[in-house]
Amino acid sequence: MSVRKARIGFIGCGSHASSSLYPAIHTIPQIELAAVCDLKEELARRNARSFGALRWYTDVKEMLRREELDGAIIVGPPQMHCELGKLCLDAGLPILVEKPSAVSHREAVELAQHAEDAGLWGAVAYMKRYAVCGW
Ligand SMILES: NC(=O)c1ccc[n+]([C@@H]2O[C@H](COP(=O)([O-])OP(=O)(O)OC[C@H]3O[C@@H](n4cnc5c(N)ncnc54)[C@H](O)[C@@H]3O)[C@@H](O)[C@H]2O)c1
Repeated sequence: MSVRKARIGFIGCGSHASSSLYPAIHTIPQIELAAVCDLKEELARRNARSFGALRWYTDVKEMLRREELDGAIIVGPPQMHCELGKLCLDAGLPILVEKPSAVSHREAVELAQHAEDAGLWGAVAYMKRYAVCGW
């Protein structure tokens, strides 16, 4: 039986995202990289081409409007995690944000509460919590 893959929108095409996270996506058979987004067009184009995304965007709202996504990965400056995290949750998407999830404890709690209120999960990429090796 073939199971549909979860369509992921990846926001942020910066250095950590591109060197450590995008290259791992193809190792997860349950997801596909539907779209990427970055304010910098050349980075969005580059990551779509390099990592096999079907489409690229420079505006998150446009990506959310046009794509039928199942989830979002958000990697960039911490203030972006909280702001765009809420936007994606409001669009009905579960989110994975890089650490830190916000610039203050108050905002981090706010983001977690936003996910809870939406009935969606939000995860923060704490590398060592999810590592398969025992560091
Ligand atoms: N888990 C770990 O071990 C680990 C390791 C390194 C870095 N990090 C985290 O990763 C993050 C840094 O990631 P990076 O190096 O890829 O970032 P970066 O600063 O290189 O790039 C961020 C990108 O986000 C884009 N951007 C900013 N605002 C945007 C918006 N509104 N819409 C779309 N794109 C937008 C920028 O144009 C930029 O290209 C930091 O939060 C850092 O704490 C985590």
